[in-house]
Amino acid sequence: MEKIKLEKNMLKVFLVAGARPNFMKIAPVLHQMKKYPDRFHPVFVHTGQHYDVKMSGVFLRDLGLPEPDITLGAGSGSHAQQTARVMIAFEKVLMEDRPDLIVVVGDVNSTMACAIAAAKLRIPVAHVEAGLRSGDRTMPEEINRIVTDQLADYLFTSIEDVDENLIREGIPRERIHFVGNVMAESLLKCGPKIEESRILEKFALRKREYALTTLHRPSNVDDRDDFLDIMDALNEIQQDIIVVFPAHPRTQKQIKAFGLKTLNNRLILTDPLSYFDFLALEKNALFVITDSGGIQEETTLFDVPCLTIRENTERPITITEGTNILVGTKSGAIVSESRKILAGKQKSGKIPLYWDDKVSERIVEVFSNI
Ligand code: UD1
Repeated sequence: MEKIKLEKNMLKVFLVAGARPNFMKIAPVLHQMKKYPDRFHPVFVHTGQHYDVKMSGVFLRDLGLPEPDITLGAGSGSHAQQTARVMIAFEKVLMEDRPDLIVVVGDVNSTMACAIAAAKLRIPVAHVEAGLRSGDRTMPEEINRIVTDQLADYLFTSIEDVDENLIREGIPRERIHFVGNVMAESLLKCGPKIEESRILEKFALRKREYALTTLHRPSNVDDRDDFLDIMDALNEIQQDIIVVFPAHPRTQKQIKAFGLKTLNNRLILTDPLSYFDFLALEKNALFVITDSGGIQEETTLFDVPCLTIRENTERPITITEGTNILVGTKSGAIVSESRKILAGKQKSGKIPLYWDDKVSERIVEVFSNI
């Protein structure tokens, strides 16, 4: 596909976020564009993929994001339903108020849906966090990444090595810009707010005397046996250390559906937390057990060991350079790797190149030089 060029001096840019992991990636770019009102007219679009206050509203507040200029109200549904609803609503908005460029982030259904709608209207698409690949097409996010990157005119990568993933898929090198990890920028910029959080006191926790866990991948929580096996591991680990478990709505639903009664009192089950509170827990945990993508990166930034309950990762640099270990999904390995950390054998890492607080500057500079 021929690259669509940006020509105007003043760019109307639609910045799209839909789900929880998008907000910390869009915020730095939006804030940076606002510094140049003669060059950029940023419009914040919220697709409504995540709609609960705890999955969306508190993140807008913590990240200093304004109320969205446009909301699409997509809501939940099957993948096709959710993707289609975002596409239909976004296409309408694009036709009524055509932007010069759209910016999408990450790999959720909203990311791909908006990229498709814009590309078909020949509106240039920029993808922040391009090029990540797990090689596992059973993950919906992998499909979203591949499709979005194929359609994007500007591909902003967070890790230098992943440029090669894109080249292999036939993407012209001149579209790819290695700018670094924008999520790192969000995290680094809210340092003082993390210190102000009172979440450790709220749960009566002491630094490095608890583990933190999150789980939400359909492959881990939708099947009863697989989910119960992971919960068995958590129950075993809480015999040695307190485990804090802020549970995603999908996971809470499954806990109810599978009839999991009150968990042991050293396994603290809570609702999803705000951005600052969650980061405070992450920073001060002895280790983290997760199936999230972003948390693999955040733990590397905090130099906190991370055990990832998956068979693969689209973020291998968190293993080679960071603090991450893939433990698979079976309770035996989860428990034995946790015990190693409890015995003092923990992985330390270094912070990858350009995981800093200048990422949005690099992105905006690319648009400024068009
Ligand atoms: C989505 C992303 C995933 C990301 C995750 C972070 C896709 C394919 N997946 O997964 O990459 O890691 O967000 O949270 O886009 N729900 C609520 N309230 C909400 C949002 C969701 O109750 O505010 C419930 C809904 O019943 C829904 C379920 O959670 O069916 C799952 O939400 P959905 O957006 O479909 O996918 P996630 O599992 O959140």
